[in-house]
Amino acid sequence: MEKIRVFAPSSVANVSCGYDIFGFAIDEPGDEVVVKIKNKPGVVITKITGDNGKLPKEADKNTAGVAVQSFLKNIKTNKGVEIELYKKMPLCSGLGSSATSAVAAVFGANMLFGNILSKEELLLFTMESEKIACGSAHADNVAPSLFGGFVLIRSYNPLDIVKIPTPDLYCTIIHPDIIVKTKDARKILKPEVCLKDVVAQCGNVAALIAGFYKLDYELISRSLNDCIIEPQRSKFIPGFMEVKKAALNNGALGSSISGSGPSIFALCKTLAIAKIVGNAMQKAFELQNIDSDIYISKINNVGPREVIDNEEN
Ligand code: HSE
Repeated sequence: MEKIRVFAPSSVANVSCGYDIFGFAIDEPGDEVVVKIKNKPGVVITKITGDNGKLPKEADKNTAGVAVQSFLKNIKTNKGVEIELYKKMPLCSGLGSSATSAVAAVFGANMLFGNILSKEELLLFTMESEKIACGSAHADNVAPSLFGGFVLIRSYNPLDIVKIPTPDLYCTIIHPDIIVKTKDARKILKPEVCLKDVVAQCGNVAALIAGFYKLDYELISRSLNDCIIEPQRSKFIPGFMEVKKAALNNGALGSSISGSGPSIFALCKTLAIAKIVGNAMQKAFELQNIDSDIYISKINNVGPREVIDNEEN
Protein backbone atom coordinates (compact mmCIF):
# COMPACT_ATOMS: atom_id res chain seq x y z
CA MET A 1 0.00 0.00 0.00
CA GLU A 2 1.43 3.40 -1.04
CA LYS A 3 -1.39 5.70 0.03
CA ILE A 4 -4.15 5.72 2.63
CA ARG A 5 -6.97 8.02 3.74
CA VAL A 6 -7.68 8.05 7.48
CA PHE A 7 -10.33 9.64 9.70
CA ALA A 8 -9.57 10.31 13.38
CA PRO A 9 -12.23 11.34 15.91
CA SER A 10 -11.95 14.44 18.06
CA SER A 11 -12.19 14.19 21.83
CA VAL A 12 -13.45 15.73 25.05
CA ALA A 13 -10.60 16.09 27.55
CA ASN A 14 -10.83 16.52 31.34
CA VAL A 15 -14.50 15.41 31.48
CA SER A 16 -15.19 17.73 34.44
CA CYS A 17 -13.17 16.41 37.34
CA GLY A 18 -10.30 14.69 35.47
CA TYR A 19 -7.95 17.50 34.45
CA ASP A 20 -5.26 16.00 32.19
CA ILE A 21 -6.29 12.43 33.16
CA PHE A 22 -9.71 11.78 31.54
CA GLY A 23 -10.81 12.00 27.93
CA PHE A 24 -13.21 10.33 25.53
CA ALA A 25 -13.48 10.21 21.76
CA ILE A 26 -16.58 11.38 19.88
CA ASP A 27 -17.86 10.34 16.44
CA GLU A 28 -17.87 13.85 15.08
CA PRO A 29 -16.26 16.17 14.31
CA GLY A 30 -12.87 14.76 13.32
CA ASP A 31 -10.08 15.16 10.78
CA GLU A 32 -9.09 13.34 7.63
CA VAL A 33 -5.64 12.90 6.19
CA VAL A 34 -4.27 11.30 3.06
CA VAL A 35 -0.84 9.88 3.75
CA LYS A 36 1.56 8.65 1.02
CA ILE A 37 4.96 7.00 1.19
CA LYS A 38 7.68 8.83 -0.74
CA ASN A 39 11.15 7.65 -1.61
CA LYS A 40 12.94 10.68 -0.15
CA PRO A 41 13.30 10.83 3.64
CA GLY A 42 11.38 13.40 5.69
CA VAL A 43 7.81 14.68 5.95
CA VAL A 44 6.16 17.05 3.49
CA ILE A 45 2.71 18.55 4.00
CA THR A 46 1.41 19.16 0.50
CA LYS A 47 -2.10 20.40 1.21
CA ILE A 48 -4.22 21.68 4.09
CA THR A 49 -7.91 22.52 3.69
CA GLY A 50 -10.55 23.69 6.16
CA ASP A 51 -8.18 25.75 8.32
CA ASN A 52 -8.67 29.18 6.69
CA GLY A 53 -4.94 29.26 6.05
CA LYS A 54 -4.15 29.24 9.77
CA LEU A 55 -2.10 26.06 10.12
CA PRO A 56 1.59 25.91 9.19
CA LYS A 57 2.60 23.70 6.27
CA GLU A 58 6.16 23.32 7.65
CA ALA A 59 6.22 19.76 8.96
CA ASP A 60 8.14 20.64 12.11
CA LYS A 61 5.56 23.26 13.11
CA ASN A 62 2.47 21.22 12.33
CA THR A 63 1.23 18.59 14.81
CA ALA A 64 0.54 16.02 12.07
CA GLY A 65 4.01 16.64 10.64
CA VAL A 66 5.79 16.43 14.01
CA ALA A 67 4.09 13.17 14.97
CA VAL A 68 5.00 11.53 11.66
CA GLN A 69 8.58 12.86 11.85
CA SER A 70 8.99 11.19 15.25
CA PHE A 71 7.46 7.99 13.88
CA LEU A 72 9.87 7.88 10.90
CA LYS A 73 12.83 8.56 13.16
CA ASN A 74 11.77 5.74 15.46
CA ILE A 75 11.40 3.14 12.71
CA LYS A 76 14.72 4.20 11.13
CA THR A 77 13.63 4.28 7.49
CA ASN A 78 15.11 6.06 4.46
CA LYS A 79 11.63 6.64 3.13
CA GLY A 80 9.50 9.66 3.82
CA VAL A 81 5.81 10.59 4.04
CA GLU A 82 3.63 13.11 2.26
CA ILE A 83 0.55 14.39 4.13
CA GLU A 84 -2.63 16.05 2.91
CA LEU A 85 -4.62 17.37 5.86
CA TYR A 86 -8.36 17.94 5.58
CA LYS A 87 -9.47 19.81 8.71
CA LYS A 88 -13.09 18.97 9.36
CA MET A 89 -13.30 20.57 12.76
CA PRO A 90 -12.77 24.02 14.25
CA LEU A 91 -9.33 25.07 15.55
CA CYS A 92 -8.85 26.19 19.17
CA SER A 93 -12.28 24.76 20.01
CA GLY A 94 -11.53 22.57 23.04
CA LEU A 95 -12.07 19.40 21.01
CA GLY A 96 -8.41 18.49 20.60
CA SER A 97 -8.02 19.70 17.02
CA SER A 98 -4.20 19.51 17.01
CA ALA A 99 -4.33 16.05 18.60
CA THR A 100 -6.86 14.76 16.06
CA SER A 101 -4.66 15.70 13.08
CA ALA A 102 -1.59 14.13 14.70
CA VAL A 103 -3.44 10.89 15.48
CA ALA A 104 -4.87 10.59 11.96
CA ALA A 105 -1.47 11.19 10.33
CA VAL A 106 0.60 8.88 12.51
CA PHE A 107 -2.03 6.11 12.40
CA GLY A 108 -2.06 6.35 8.58
CA ALA A 109 1.75 6.36 8.35
CA ASN A 110 1.95 3.30 10.60
CA MET A 111 -0.54 1.44 8.40
CA LEU A 112 1.48 2.28 5.28
CA PHE A 113 4.60 0.85 6.91
CA GLY A 114 2.79 -2.41 7.74
CA ASN A 115 1.49 -1.56 11.23
CA ILE A 116 4.92 -2.06 12.70
CA LEU A 117 4.27 -0.11 15.90
CA SER A 118 1.57 -0.53 18.53
CA LYS A 119 -0.88 2.24 19.44
CA GLU A 120 0.96 2.58 22.78
CA GLU A 121 4.13 3.42 20.82
CA LEU A 122 2.31 5.80 18.46
CA LEU A 123 0.89 7.63 21.47
CA LEU A 124 4.36 8.92 22.39
CA PHE A 125 4.75 10.61 18.99
CA THR A 126 1.35 12.28 19.22
CA MET A 127 2.19 13.54 22.72
CA GLU A 128 5.35 15.13 21.32
CA SER A 129 3.21 16.95 18.80
CA GLU A 130 0.95 18.26 21.60
CA LYS A 131 4.04 19.91 23.05
CA ILE A 132 4.55 22.03 19.94
CA ALA A 133 0.84 22.86 19.79
CA CYS A 134 0.43 24.15 23.34
CA GLY A 135 3.65 23.67 25.25
CA SER A 136 2.58 20.60 27.21
CA ALA A 137 2.58 16.90 26.36
CA HIS A 138 -0.79 16.09 27.95
CA ALA A 139 -2.38 12.89 26.62
CA ASP A 140 -6.07 13.38 27.40
CA ASN A 141 -6.92 14.30 23.79
CA VAL A 142 -4.43 12.17 21.84
CA ALA A 143 -5.04 8.98 23.85
CA PRO A 144 -8.85 8.85 23.43
CA SER A 145 -8.58 9.88 19.79
CA LEU A 146 -6.04 7.08 19.17
CA PHE A 147 -7.54 4.31 21.32
CA GLY A 148 -11.21 5.30 21.08
CA GLY A 149 -13.53 5.14 24.07
CA PHE A 150 -13.07 6.68 27.50
CA VAL A 151 -9.46 6.79 28.60
CA LEU A 152 -7.82 7.34 31.97
CA ILE A 153 -4.19 8.43 32.16
CA ARG A 154 -3.26 6.93 35.50
CA SER A 155 0.32 8.18 35.28
CA TYR A 156 2.47 10.24 32.91
CA ASN A 157 5.78 8.94 34.22
CA PRO A 158 5.79 6.11 33.48
CA LEU A 159 2.95 6.48 31.01
CA ASP A 160 0.04 4.29 32.10
CA ILE A 161 -3.14 4.41 30.02
CA VAL A 162 -6.30 2.60 31.10
CA LYS A 163 -9.38 2.22 28.91
CA ILE A 164 -12.57 2.46 30.96
CA PRO A 165 -15.84 0.89 29.82
CA THR A 166 -18.86 3.20 29.91
CA PRO A 167 -22.60 2.66 29.68
CA ASP A 168 -24.41 4.05 26.62
CA LEU A 169 -23.91 7.79 26.72
CA TYR A 170 -24.64 10.57 24.25
CA CYS A 171 -22.49 13.64 24.21
CA THR A 172 -23.77 17.05 23.21
CA ILE A 173 -21.03 19.50 22.29
CA ILE A 174 -21.73 23.16 21.82
CA HIS A 175 -18.97 25.11 20.14
CA PRO A 176 -19.45 28.87 20.54
CA ASP A 177 -17.95 31.18 17.97
CA ILE A 178 -15.09 32.32 20.20
CA ILE A 179 -11.46 31.21 20.44
CA VAL A 180 -9.55 30.02 23.49
CA LYS A 181 -5.95 28.92 23.06
CA THR A 182 -4.99 25.92 25.20
CA LYS A 183 -1.63 27.52 25.96
CA ASP A 184 -3.37 30.57 27.46
CA ALA A 185 -5.98 28.49 29.29
CA ARG A 186 -3.19 26.48 30.95
CA LYS A 187 -1.13 29.53 31.85
CA ILE A 188 -3.87 31.07 33.98
CA LEU A 189 -4.30 28.02 36.23
CA LYS A 190 -3.09 28.50 39.80
CA PRO A 191 -0.21 26.09 40.49
CA GLU A 192 -1.47 25.35 44.00
CA VAL A 193 -4.74 23.71 45.01
CA CYS A 194 -6.22 23.69 48.49
CA LEU A 195 -6.58 20.35 50.28
CA LYS A 196 -10.37 20.65 50.64
CA ASP A 197 -10.72 20.91 46.85
CA VAL A 198 -8.36 17.97 46.27
CA VAL A 199 -10.50 15.82 48.55
CA ALA A 200 -13.70 16.81 46.72
CA GLN A 201 -12.11 16.32 43.29
CA CYS A 202 -10.68 12.87 44.19
CA GLY A 203 -14.12 11.81 45.40
CA ASN A 204 -15.64 12.77 42.06
CA VAL A 205 -12.86 11.20 39.99
CA ALA A 206 -13.16 7.88 41.80
CA ALA A 207 -16.97 7.91 41.81
CA LEU A 208 -17.18 8.70 38.08
CA ILE A 209 -15.18 5.56 37.29
CA ALA A 210 -17.28 3.58 39.80
CA GLY A 211 -20.43 4.94 38.12
CA PHE A 212 -19.21 3.73 34.72
CA TYR A 213 -18.50 0.22 36.03
CA LYS A 214 -21.77 0.04 37.96
CA LEU A 215 -23.74 1.51 35.02
CA ASP A 216 -25.11 3.90 37.63
CA TYR A 217 -26.26 7.03 35.81
CA GLU A 218 -27.12 8.86 39.02
CA LEU A 219 -23.65 8.34 40.41
CA ILE A 220 -22.16 9.45 37.08
CA SER A 221 -24.31 12.55 37.26
CA ARG A 222 -23.30 13.40 40.85
CA SER A 223 -19.62 12.92 39.97
CA LEU A 224 -19.48 15.22 36.94
CA ASN A 225 -18.29 18.16 39.02
CA ASP A 226 -15.07 20.12 38.81
CA CYS A 227 -14.26 22.41 41.72
CA ILE A 228 -10.67 23.15 40.61
CA ILE A 229 -10.34 23.98 36.90
CA GLU A 230 -13.82 25.01 35.75
CA PRO A 231 -14.12 27.96 38.18
CA GLN A 232 -10.83 29.36 36.88
CA ARG A 233 -11.46 28.87 33.17
CA SER A 234 -15.16 29.59 32.83
CA LYS A 235 -14.42 33.33 32.67
CA PHE A 236 -13.12 32.79 29.12
CA ILE A 237 -16.62 31.70 28.04
CA PRO A 238 -19.29 34.43 28.25
CA GLY A 239 -22.53 32.93 29.56
CA PHE A 240 -20.86 29.69 30.67
CA MET A 241 -23.00 29.26 33.81
CA GLU A 242 -26.23 29.95 31.89
CA VAL A 243 -25.31 27.42 29.19
CA LYS A 244 -24.36 24.79 31.76
CA LYS A 245 -27.59 25.41 33.68
CA ALA A 246 -29.58 25.07 30.45
CA ALA A 247 -27.99 21.65 29.92
CA LEU A 248 -28.63 20.45 33.47
CA ASN A 249 -32.20 21.82 33.60
CA ASN A 250 -33.02 19.93 30.41
CA GLY A 251 -31.89 16.52 31.56
CA ALA A 252 -28.12 16.32 31.03
CA LEU A 253 -26.29 14.09 33.52
CA GLY A 254 -23.51 16.65 33.72
CA SER A 255 -21.89 19.47 31.79
CA SER A 256 -18.57 21.29 31.85
CA ILE A 257 -15.88 22.84 29.66
CA SER A 258 -14.59 20.49 26.96
CA GLY A 259 -10.80 20.40 27.31
CA SER A 260 -9.59 23.97 27.66
CA GLY A 261 -12.73 25.35 25.98
CA PRO A 262 -14.53 27.23 24.62
CA SER A 263 -16.69 24.21 23.70
CA ILE A 264 -18.95 22.92 26.45
CA PHE A 265 -19.98 19.27 26.63
CA ALA A 266 -23.00 17.64 28.22
CA LEU A 267 -23.36 13.90 28.79
CA CYS A 268 -26.87 12.52 28.35
CA LYS A 269 -28.62 9.19 28.75
CA THR A 270 -30.47 9.19 25.42
CA LEU A 271 -30.19 10.74 21.98
CA ALA A 272 -33.54 12.49 22.47
CA ILE A 273 -32.30 14.19 25.67
CA ALA A 274 -29.00 15.10 23.97
CA LYS A 275 -30.92 16.93 21.24
CA ILE A 276 -33.14 18.83 23.68
CA VAL A 277 -30.05 19.74 25.72
CA GLY A 278 -28.27 20.98 22.59
CA ASN A 279 -31.15 23.28 21.66
CA ALA A 280 -31.36 24.67 25.19
CA MET A 281 -27.60 25.32 25.31
CA GLN A 282 -27.72 27.04 21.93
CA LYS A 283 -30.56 29.31 23.07
CA ALA A 284 -28.53 30.26 26.15
CA PHE A 285 -25.60 31.28 23.95
CA GLU A 286 -27.98 33.22 21.68
CA LEU A 287 -28.97 35.32 24.70
CA GLN A 288 -25.29 36.27 24.94
CA ASN A 289 -25.32 37.12 21.19
CA ILE A 290 -22.91 34.27 20.53
CA ASP A 291 -23.39 31.96 17.54
CA SER A 292 -22.66 28.31 18.09
CA ASP A 293 -22.51 24.90 16.42
CA ILE A 294 -23.78 21.70 17.95
CA TYR A 295 -22.41 18.18 17.56
CA ILE A 296 -24.15 15.16 19.05
CA SER A 297 -22.63 11.71 19.11
CA LYS A 298 -22.09 8.62 21.19
CA ILE A 299 -18.72 7.97 22.72
CA ASN A 300 -16.60 6.72 19.80
CA ASN A 301 -15.13 3.34 20.63
CA VAL A 302 -13.26 2.87 17.36
CA GLY A 303 -10.56 5.55 17.22
CA PRO A 304 -8.91 6.27 13.86
CA ARG A 305 -10.04 4.26 10.83
CA GLU A 306 -9.27 3.94 7.15
CA VAL A 307 -11.71 5.79 4.91
CA ILE A 308 -12.42 3.55 1.97
CA ASP A 309 -14.51 5.73 -0.33
CA ASN A 310 -12.64 8.15 -2.53
CA GLU A 311 -14.62 11.31 -1.92
CA GLU A 312 -12.81 14.44 -3.08
CA ASN A 313 -12.36 17.16 -0.50
N1 HSE B 1 -6.18 18.70 29.72
C1 HSE B 1 -5.92 19.73 28.73
C2 HSE B 1 -6.25 21.06 29.37
C3 HSE B 1 -6.76 19.51 27.52
O1 HSE B 1 -7.29 21.17 30.00
O2 HSE B 1 -5.45 22.00 29.24
C4 HSE B 1 -6.57 20.55 26.46
O3 HSE B 1 -7.44 20.30 25.39
